[in-house]
Amino acid sequence: MYDFLRALPKAELHLHIEGSMEPELMFKLAERNGVGLRYDSVEDVREAYDFADLQSFLDLYYQGMAVLQTADDFHDLAMDYFQRAASEGVVHVDLSFDPQAHLSRGVGMRAQMEGLLAAMEEARQELDLSTAMIMSFLRDQPAASALDVFELAGPWHRHLSAVGLDSAEAGFPPAPFAEVFRRARAAGIPGVAHAGEEGPPDYIRDALDLLGVIRIDHGVRCLEDPALVQRLRDDQIPLTVCPLSNVRLKVVDELARHPLPALLEAGLKLTLNSDDPAYFGGGVLTNFLACQQAFGWDEETFRQLARNALEEAFMTEDRRRALL
Ligand code: HPA
Ligand code: ZN
Repeated sequence: MYDFLRALPKAELHLHIEGSMEPELMFKLAERNGVGLRYDSVEDVREAYDFADLQSFLDLYYQGMAVLQTADDFHDLAMDYFQRAASEGVVHVDLSFDPQAHLSRGVGMRAQMEGLLAAMEEARQELDLSTAMIMSFLRDQPAASALDVFELAGPWHRHLSAVGLDSAEAGFPPAPFAEVFRRARAAGIPGVAHAGEEGPPDYIRDALDLLGVIRIDHGVRCLEDPALVQRLRDDQIPLTVCPLSNVRLKVVDELARHPLPALLEAGLKLTLNSDDPAYFGGGVLTNFLACQQAFGWDEETFRQLARNALEEAFMTEDRRRALL
C-alpha cells in the first residue's frame, strides 16, 4: 500500500506555506536574518509542538514566521516544501499564504509575492509540479484590513487563483468578509474559506451564502447539521479535510474516531490535505498513510479521493486532462 499511495498522483488543496516551515529551515533563516529564536535546538522546536487547540497552534505559527524577511526567504520556504511534496508523489499544490501576518511585521507584499512566484515557476520547470496561489485573509483581524490587503495586492491579482479565509475561527464568523469576497469575485477571483473546523456548521453555510465560496476548508463539523450535509452532497461542494491537523489540534481525540468515514458515507466530495505539515506531523502522503492505518480503506477509495483533488484544484484544463 505504501508504494501505491506514494505513486498515486496527489494534489494538495489545503496547505499554508508558512506552516510548511520545518525547524531546520527556521534556524537557517533565523541565522541568515539575525532573528532571535526562543528555542535552543531543532528538537526544542519539535517538542513545543504540543497543541491544545487551534489558538495554541496559531500562537507558535505566527511566532515561527518572524524569520521570513526577504523575497529569498519566501522562495526558499516554498521550494523546500515543493521538493518534499514532489518526493511524496504530489503533482499539484494550491498554496495558501497569509499576507497580513507578514505586512504587520513590516515585510512588504512585493517580497512575499516575488519570492513565492519565483518558487512556483521553479517548481513547474524543475519538479514538474504545478501550483496555484490562494491569498488568505485573517478572520480575527478587521474586515477593513482584508479590503486594504486585497487592494494592496492589485498588481498581483492576475496571479491569484483564489482568496481564502483562515486563522482563529470560533467567534469570527464569515459575514464581515462578504464585501472583500464580492470584490475578489468581481475581479474574477473565486473564494474558499476555512469553516467548520472549530466553528459551528452555520459558518459553513454562511461561507457558501455570504462569501460565495466554491470550496470549504476543513468542514468536518457539517455532520452536526443534516440539512447542510444534504446541501454539500447535492452541490458536491469540495471539503479539504486535514486528518492529522484535526488530531493535533484536538478537533478529534484520535484518528480512528475522525468523522472521515461518516463524511464519505454521506456522499461528500472529500480531499485529503496536510494543512501545516511541519507542525502536524507530515505531508500529504503521511496523511494518506495514516488514514490507511486508521480506516483500512482500499485502493479504490484513495484513488477517488486523489481524483477529487485533481478535479477541484486550481489548474489549467490542459494540466488537469494530463493528470486525470
Ligand atoms: N485553521 C485556521 N487557520 C490556519 C490554520 C488552520 O488549520 N493553519 C494556518 N492557519
Ligand atoms: Zn488550514
